[in-house]
Amino acid sequence: MPLSQRIETAISQAIGQGQGGVAPPKLSKALNYAVTPGGARIRPTILMSVALACGDDRPELSNAAAAALELIHCASLVHDDMPCFDDADIRRGKPTVHREWDEPIALLTGDSLIVLAFEVLAKAAGADPMRAVQLIQTLAHRTGMPNGICAGQGWESETEVDLRAYHRAKTGALFIAATQMGALAAGQEAEPWEELGARIGEAFQVADDLRDALYDSETLGKPAGQDDLHDRPNAVSEFGVQGAVRHLKDILGGAIASIPSCPGEAALAQMVRAQSERLTPVAPAVNRA
Ligand code: IPE
Ligand code: IPE
Ligand code: MG
Ligand code: MG
Repeated sequence: MPLSQRIETAISQAIGQGQGGVAPPKLSKALNYAVTPGGARIRPTILMSVALACGDDRPELSNAAAAALELIHCASLVHDDMPCFDDADIRRGKPTVHREWDEPIALLTGDSLIVLAFEVLAKAAGADPMRAVQLIQTLAHRTGMPNGICAGQGWESETEVDLRAYHRAKTGALFIAATQMGALAAGQEAEPWEELGARIGEAFQVADDLRDALYDSETLGKPAGQDDLHDRPNAVSEFGVQGAVRHLKDILGGAIASIPSCPGEAALAQMVRAQSERLTPVAPAVNRA
């Protein structure tokens, strides 16, 4: 089965766990709406690629981990789009959850997806309870405070912001979770995989800043020019467009060099290269700036 199909199947099974029975229909529908069709699914793709590179001897766990991680990511987007954060009207080319329904539904959709993510991991624990506990702990660590995406979003309420710490928590955290959970699901130590996740995450955020500055809303499927609009610290204002592109390439070179030795090392390096090509804004947009 192709990786993308394996990921989609794991995600729809996870969503199914949060539906059914006598459940409120709008919220039930919104759970699915917020998660499918997905965006690039980059986090579960990285997680699965690391698990496969490490042998993937417990596919039930890597499937659950990939789905759980994507649910957390989608929850963070639903909350991020709400009026109290970025007040965005579109996400992945369609109305955001609070625009399609209302704010209570958006808040509850995000909450339900976060809880569901941990339930999915707990349910898969039968395959290997020790590994499942490590997966739950790693995902929690990279979701909440003080190192997770909650911390990242929290920086936006401060007047003095450390750009690196902000990006590392807001975006890097779930990329670190991706590499570490991939390794843990396959029975490997998490620690050696932190650097790879952190580097891919940093590169991803720089690429996202470039796309935000260079592309229009139609191309992005979400509002453009947001960093400027909200006066948010970002890589383009710090380094300029060409500087940010150079920075992105440096970080990705370092990412490949940091891959821990494992049976599927070469395939993993190929995956990072493929993602980096996808992330780098195309030449006309870069030259226009
Ligand atoms: C967007 O993430 C949010 C950031 C952390 C910058 P993605 O660009 O991965 O969003 P989707 O899942 O592909 O829509
Ligand atoms: C969203 O960050 C990241 C999280 C929700 C943790 P941004 O606000 O920068 O991303 P987009 O542009 O809305 O996708
Ligand atoms: Mg935001
Ligand atoms: Mg946003």
